Amino acid sequence: MDSRAMVLEEGKERTTNQVKGLPIRLLRVFVLFVVICAVFSVISIYTLKHFGIESVVTTTVMRSGFQPCREEPGSFSELEDWIRPNSNPIHNMSDKELLWRASFGPRIKDYPFKRVPKVAFMFLTKGPLPLAPLWERFFKGNERLYSIYVHSLPSFQPQFRRSSVFYNRHIPSQVAEWGRMSMCDAERRLLANALLDIYNERFILLSESCIPLYKFSFIYNYIMKSKYSFMSVFDDPGPYGRGRYRNEMAPLVNITEWRKGSQWFEANRKIATSIVEDARYYPIFEKYCTPACYVDEHYFPTMLSIEAGNALANRSLTWVDWSRGGAHPASFGKSDVTEEFIDRVRSHHRCKYNNKNATVCFLFARKFAPSALKPLLEMDSKVLGF
Ligand SMILES: *[C@@H]1O[C@H](CO)[C@@H](O)[C@H](O)[C@H]1NC(C)=O
Ligand SMILES: *[C@@H]1O[C@H](CO)[C@@H](O)[C@H](O)[C@H]1NC(C)=O
Ligand SMILES: *[C@@H]1O[C@H](CO)[C@@H](O)[C@H](O)[C@H]1NC(C)=O
Ligand SMILES: *[C@@H]1O[C@H](CO)[C@@H](O)[C@H](O)[C@H]1NC(C)=O
Repeated sequence: MDSRAMVLEEGKERTTNQVKGLPIRLLRVFVLFVVICAVFSVISIYTLKHFGIESVVTTTVMRSGFQPCREEPGSFSELEDWIRPNSNPIHNMSDKELLWRASFGPRIKDYPFKRVPKVAFMFLTKGPLPLAPLWERFFKGNERLYSIYVHSLPSFQPQFRRSSVFYNRHIPSQVAEWGRMSMCDAERRLLANALLDIYNERFILLSESCIPLYKFSFIYNYIMKSKYSFMSVFDDPGPYGRGRYRNEMAPLVNITEWRKGSQWFEANRKIATSIVEDARYYPIFEKYCTPACYVDEHYFPTMLSIEAGNALANRSLTWVDWSRGGAHPASFGKSDVTEEFIDRVRSHHRCKYNNKNATVCFLFARKFAPSALKPLLEMDSKVLGF
């Protein structure tokens, strides 16, 4: 019994031992497995963490390395760096460098950001802007819809107050002579500077003797909604038109393609770019259109009517009075400026606007003497609308 019991006990023990022995071995294997797993996961977590930390460290190092660069010109890491308009138009580029830089343009039509288009008002002046107070009033409250560029004699020192719309808007300039290529150079310089601001969509050339004839919003909409650029272009068969053509300009420009037009133009971004990028017509006009061929009356009108004729309205937005004859248009001073006069300048015109008959044909007028400022400012704001 005892032995049996012993045997039984033994057997029991054995069996229990056998039964117990199997899970213990399993347990050992399991524990070993768990330990190996734990070691592996610790190693892998450590390595992951280590490399992870290392990559985070490298990116922060790289980022912190990039950050100061972002403030330096020439480093572009975000779209904002490409589209932010330069608040100060002073730069160090030569004309050649500037025109090249300004000829850059996007080839994808849709802008990947909200772009409220601006009108660039480009003032081509000798020096002071005597009618500036009138323009200040005109621009007031429309800050996001325009930009201003002023080209004056390089010797001129502008003295506008910080609060003025003309403060810090003078571009690096050179002497521009009436009827000479240097005048077209100045206009291209203005366009090129204005093209650097991607928000500028329309570009209007004005002089120091120009005045606006309507309030800002009216002018903005009129220009912005026009399908055509307001470049005055006509074929004058007389001595002051075709008479200035030279046979040496063929075959690039045939006499039948020779055009004349007013210097005071309005252009959209595409036309502005084609003026800035031109290297084909420029040398021919520079060489053969010299006084008495006044190049600023022929170069852009002829080139653009050949290259982009159907994009032009063939008329100028700037009213001028040639009725008194002579080489220069009439100038208006203190005694001329009355409500009736402004009304006469603004109305009784006929033209096409987006292929429809229109009576509003001019948005600006010249030439106004400095003495015209006082009566213009004193005029009832209902007359001009601002
Ligand atoms: C333009 O360049 C000159 C020398 O090349 C330099 O002295 C001057 O500081 C530069 N001006 C600007 C605005 O970068
Ligand atoms: C100018 O063009 C016309 C037709 O457009 C042509 O008949 C004429 O021969 C051309 N003249 C010259 C000088 O090329
Ligand atoms: C302007 O004249 C050109 C021809 O030089 C013509 O193709 C174009 O349609 C004209 N523009 C308008 C608005 O009529
Ligand atoms: C536009 O004006 C012309 C004259 O300049 C006229 O013959 C024509 O009938 C007018 N068209 C419309 C639609 O009023």
